[in-house]
Amino acid sequence: MRKPFAAGNWKMNTNSRTSVDLAKRLADEASDAAGHSVTVAVCPPFVYLQAVTKALNGSSISVGAQDLYFEPDGAFTGEISVSMLKDIGCTYCLCGHSERRHVIGETDELINKKVTAAIKGGLLPILCVGELLEERKAGKTNEVVTRHIEKGLAGLSLEKVEAVTIAYEPVWAIGTGLTATPQQAQEVHIFIRNLLGKMYDKKAADEMRILYGGSVKPSNTAELMAQPDVDGVLVGGASLKAEDFLGIIQASIR
Ligand code: 13P
Repeated sequence: MRKPFAAGNWKMNTNSRTSVDLAKRLADEASDAAGHSVTVAVCPPFVYLQAVTKALNGSSISVGAQDLYFEPDGAFTGEISVSMLKDIGCTYCLCGHSERRHVIGETDELINKKVTAAIKGGLLPILCVGELLEERKAGKTNEVVTRHIEKGLAGLSLEKVEAVTIAYEPVWAIGTGLTATPQQAQEVHIFIRNLLGKMYDKKAADEMRILYGGSVKPSNTAELMAQPDVDGVLVGGASLKAEDFLGIIQASIR
């Protein structure tokens, strides 16, 4: 049985005060649910990771980074390594978020190095995949998702891949208010699970969690979570409002 997972990606939002306020409110009100019925994680901007980790201390809410660099250390100005993230208490790391693919220009090859480095260093990667609107319109959703997953997980053994969570985030649904319908999400999620089954084995595919992301709100979480292959949600905008994210956490519990 896959445990539901609600993750908040704060992107380039909050400040030193609001990040800590939000974390404290979540720690106060979501600690019971988190850990027992649902895995809960927040991914603040790098500069607030430590303060947020401190504010969440003692709660069962985990902290994730929004990105990492694959080299262990050295002359990589502006980058953050896996060991730095581990050092300050991170558990998860987003890899290949669509904004990093399409705004910053990350390639599948770079994302694969990040996923591999995360696992090697003991972080749990959340590999984000998903098609652009024109790709969906051209009937290329499965092709794009296959490329993101095959290249993103390239070289990972069966044992290693168990550390990975997949997040299906159709780019046309991110920050647009246009959520994929539960059926659209389920279609892609089962496609991904079957693909993982072919790449690895059925047991691994059945155990891996596949999250949906793209305009998730408290009001649409339950219907998404009612789909058999939707194991959780990766939330952008709505994770910045405590009430909304708390509502999403509650609605994620099956
Ligand atoms: P929104 O929930 O704001 O659409 O963002 C989704 C997302 O990109 C989460 O990583």
